[in-house]
Amino acid sequence: MSTGTKAAELQILSLNAFSGEGAALPSDIAALVERRKRAFGAGSVLFYDVPLKVVKAEGPYLHASDGRAYLDFYNNVPTVGHCHPKVVEAVQRQVAQFNIHSRYLFDVSHDYAEKLLATFPAALSNLVLTCTGSESNDLALRIAKKASGGTGFVVTQTAYHGNTAAVTEVSPSSYRTGAPPPHVRMVPPPDPAIFGNDVGHGFAEAVAGAIAAMEADGIRFAGLLVDSIFSSDGVFADPPGFLKEAAAVARRAGGLVIADEVQPGFGRTGEGMWGFSRHGVEPDIVTMGKPMGNGYPVAGLVTRPQLLADFCADFGYFNTFAASPVATAAALAVLEAIEEDGLIANADRVGRHLKARLTHLMGRAPITAVRGAGLYLGVAFGDESGPRADIAKGLINGLKAKGILIGAAGQFGNVLKIRPPLCVTADHADQLADALEGLLAPAA
Ligand SMILES: Cc1ncc(COP(=O)(O)O)c(C=O)c1O
Repeated sequence: MSTGTKAAELQILSLNAFSGEGAALPSDIAALVERRKRAFGAGSVLFYDVPLKVVKAEGPYLHASDGRAYLDFYNNVPTVGHCHPKVVEAVQRQVAQFNIHSRYLFDVSHDYAEKLLATFPAALSNLVLTCTGSESNDLALRIAKKASGGTGFVVTQTAYHGNTAAVTEVSPSSYRTGAPPPHVRMVPPPDPAIFGNDVGHGFAEAVAGAIAAMEADGIRFAGLLVDSIFSSDGVFADPPGFLKEAAAVARRAGGLVIADEVQPGFGRTGEGMWGFSRHGVEPDIVTMGKPMGNGYPVAGLVTRPQLLADFCADFGYFNTFAASPVATAAALAVLEAIEEDGLIANADRVGRHLKARLTHLMGRAPITAVRGAGLYLGVAFGDESGPRADIAKGLINGLKAKGILIGAAGQFGNVLKIRPPLCVTADHADQLADALEGLLAPAA
């Protein structure tokens, strides 16, 4: 088993990326791609062999310039549904009333903070609002360093935690060349194919080994940072509880446990609001973002008051656009929509149905695993030649041709990543499963 410093084989942002090779582009798309290249240069990434130009969105559908409505099984940001009327109304109302930074008093941010914090274990009672998941993780690293006196972090091999300088270092999947620096140590994802049936124990041993190795190199351990659904690693959710032992190892070594809930958070796993709670773990810091504002850029970090106070004794923290009335109005509307629309129960119900249908396809194709919880599912492809990213990529483009959007994940890019808005129904799930069934080779 590797606890070394090799970066991910595949750069996560390259998965399913438009390369400009292959399919001929319709002239309007070709013209926009050209303008995009000129204006945004090498930093710009597009999806699909033929990129999609979006003109409108509603519920689980994206409408494109080709006149088609695409069923969205990819986008987790519009978690309560694209253009959810409640969120639209809340943002429009607040932006017309006033919008200002957080150094004034106004009601909505307090209403939001209290409602959000009520979803956490009692000890996690302070919220810091930010604008992005990256900023939340950046702050989490700083708090963990202060609390532990260390600088070293353990992350998974294909983790992605964001884009600041410090957070890129703990995001092995961001590296196109080179590898994370010595204060960042990688462990394999909690995959039964690597650790066998006792995934929790194997994963904890890997974490312990990584900590021991960094400390042998004179680097003091600061924390274990994990996405609690291991999304970019290829989606690992089971068995619930497998994170517990690794969290205990991290704490015994004097580090903090940071749960990155940017992907699983806000009810997606169908078992309560947070991915970590499935594992019976109480993290020291929880970071969140993406779905929090249903597309409005709002993110945050929740922690114990003492950890925040200790950090703030050394550094001030101000974030101009975070905690603004409009950001918190959007975020409050999201929490209310999750409740009113019964989206956690829906994620559980539809997720179970879809997982059963996908599992049924295992006999028909080189599917090596169907994983995940609620509406965060992964389907891995491989055969005797190894992981098959080509199959995943072919299916992503094939599904698009059938009007369904989906993405890829995993160290080898061979895992279909399924994470639709939480308002999808069993009928939508059947459309995806039927389309996949049609694309996969029949059983021999
Ligand atoms: C697990 C995880 N953490 C953090 C981030 C960074 O969030 P943002 O893009 O809002 O900075 C992402 C983004 O994809 C993510 O998937």
